[in-house]
Amino acid sequence: ADPAALPRDLEGRSVVVSAGGTREPLDPVRYLGNRSSGRQGFALARVAAQRGAEVTLVAANTADLPVPAGVELRRVETAEQLRGEVFAAASGADAVVMSAAVADFRPAEHAAHKIKKTGSDPAPVELVRNPDVLSELVEARRTGALSTGLVVGFAAETGDPDTGVLEHGADKLARKGCDLLVVNAVGDGRAFEVEDNAGWLLASSGERRPLPHGAKSLLASRVWDAVGGRFVGN
Ligand code: CTP
Ligand code: CA
Repeated sequence: ADPAALPRDLEGRSVVVSAGGTREPLDPVRYLGNRSSGRQGFALARVAAQRGAEVTLVAANTADLPVPAGVELRRVETAEQLRGEVFAAASGADAVVMSAAVADFRPAEHAAHKIKKTGSDPAPVELVRNPDVLSELVEARRTGALSTGLVVGFAAETGDPDTGVLEHGADKLARKGCDLLVVNAVGDGRAFEVEDNAGWLLASSGERRPLPHGAKSLLASRVWDAVGGRFVGN
């Protein structure tokens, strides 16, 4: 899209976007990770900047992606680093959009040296929980520890025989307590590692809008339309 054709409706706003997927180290050369490319988060950051916002992009393991113009980039690797950078940038921001795929667990131990194979069977990898950054943002805002505006989550859902994508999304929105949840329908090769997304935009007010198939920049525009319409003072 031609950036000059976009509205400058986010002028004077500051927003934080997390993108990519965290990597949780096992040793200096190995990690537990996920397949998130960061493309959706980078599209969100690029579009917000084009619409006039001051943007901090907290990027987890997105070395392949070009950095959007006019965006302040903070590179992180792990969930704990991501939490630190997101919280630092969220203070005083008008919106935080958590599009990063944050690992739910990390290895309990991070070996200082490369783990070598020995003659015996490998030891099982023990995992511990990572912080839930999105839930912590909502909670810190509630207690007043963090002064931040809208909090937006993302969820990739496949649905299953008992429960549809929309229902899983609505449950997650309630559980996380965020203001908006972007629900991507995944499976059958959708969303991960492709250029398209489709799903639902759910609001804590109960409003739900379908997100049609389209480029990630289009989905980004839809998200900022919804966020922009909910800014305090609008
Ligand atoms: N998220 C987070 N910190 C985590 C896990 C997830 O901030 N440790 C955020 C993601 O960035 C996303 C939202 O929470 O915006 C939903 O992530 P998802 O993995 O779908 O939610 P979970 O609560 O981890 O549920 P699930 O069991 O389906 O993985
Ligand atoms: Ca998860």
